[in-house]
Amino acid sequence: MMSQQTQLAEVFETTFGVAPTVNIQAPGRVNLIGEHTDYNDGFVFPAAINFGTWIAATPRQDRVIDVVALDYDGERVRFSLDDIAHVDTATWSNYVRGVCKVLLELFPDLNGANLAVTGNVPQGAGLSSSASFEVALVKMFEALYNLNITGVKAALLGQKAENTFVGCSCGIMDQLISAMGKQGQAMLLDCRTLDFEHTPLPDSHVILIVNSNVKRGLVDSEYNVRREQCEEAAKIMGVTALRDADLALLALHKQAMTDPVYRRARHIITENQRTVSMFNALNAGRIAEVSELMAQSHVSMRDDFEITVPPIDYLVEIIDEVVGVEGGVRMTGGGFGGCVVALTPNSHVSEIMTAVEERYHARTGYQPTFYTCSAEQGAFA
Ligand code: GLA
Repeated sequence: MMSQQTQLAEVFETTFGVAPTVNIQAPGRVNLIGEHTDYNDGFVFPAAINFGTWIAATPRQDRVIDVVALDYDGERVRFSLDDIAHVDTATWSNYVRGVCKVLLELFPDLNGANLAVTGNVPQGAGLSSSASFEVALVKMFEALYNLNITGVKAALLGQKAENTFVGCSCGIMDQLISAMGKQGQAMLLDCRTLDFEHTPLPDSHVILIVNSNVKRGLVDSEYNVRREQCEEAAKIMGVTALRDADLALLALHKQAMTDPVYRRARHIITENQRTVSMFNALNAGRIAEVSELMAQSHVSMRDDFEITVPPIDYLVEIIDEVVGVEGGVRMTGGGFGGCVVALTPNSHVSEIMTAVEERYHARTGYQPTFYTCSAEQGAFA
């Protein structure tokens, strides 16, 4: 079978009549722990993965963007950099439009581009197909026109496109790890200072992602509501962000909060602590502690932040029964469906798959998909 990249180059040539001069790849990500903490100025611990978005491109002499999307039946969209509008058809193109719009604020004289795009990050699964697309687009412009853009800046631009143009108030985690991930390593990121530190993943373990294939509904609206609730809790406690609160402060203000707002804040405060603890535990090879922290994180997302769904909880239960204290498992990503991530000894992978295959569909009616992942380089790393 022809590889996705070969196919991309072929479609580019057939469409534009020349070979691409720039070939870009930006990875998706899996978050090991630290969920919804990023927009609370907190800590996250993701890794870039061996699934991503590829772009083939050539520069243009004018201000036109001409883009063909392999994964949407070769759908082709053209627009001018002088007239960028949000569209309701070919909605994938809003990422291109949004990224162009934020780039133009920095580089107003930017020229257009011919480009072809494809990817293999499952969409809507919580593995950041959008962020990998945004970062790939920024990288493409950087490469086409020799722009001076660092990886951190690229991540901020991608996030801004998503916040202001696509309409999701996401944090910085996904774009930053897609830009700055390192092969074989996970990254502890301080989302306030944007300082980060990489740490090797243990050779004895593998990242196994299981897609629940529960179609995520209302993700953006629920996501934005969570963000507002966190901001409300911070305001009530008189802190800049939930990063600055602890459980004692939260207890002092409990009466002033609705119960959901209180529990949202409790998730963020405890999740921040767990994220730093997990980084330290993994560094020191204390896998039983990693196991416990991931389990606690899942319970907190389920009961306090309320972003899991029953099929996901069941997947976590099945996998936890197999890995026990030798590894960890939890939901990963924004929530309301999507994937679970397991950090498991290599020797347990087939047993996990068998257990999930035997039990998950029978109980939930959904078919699982498995991805054995490695940690990869970010597009700007
Ligand atoms: C989505 C967002 C991220 C982050 C996660 C939850 O992936 O894009 O910024 O908030 O959800 O941790």
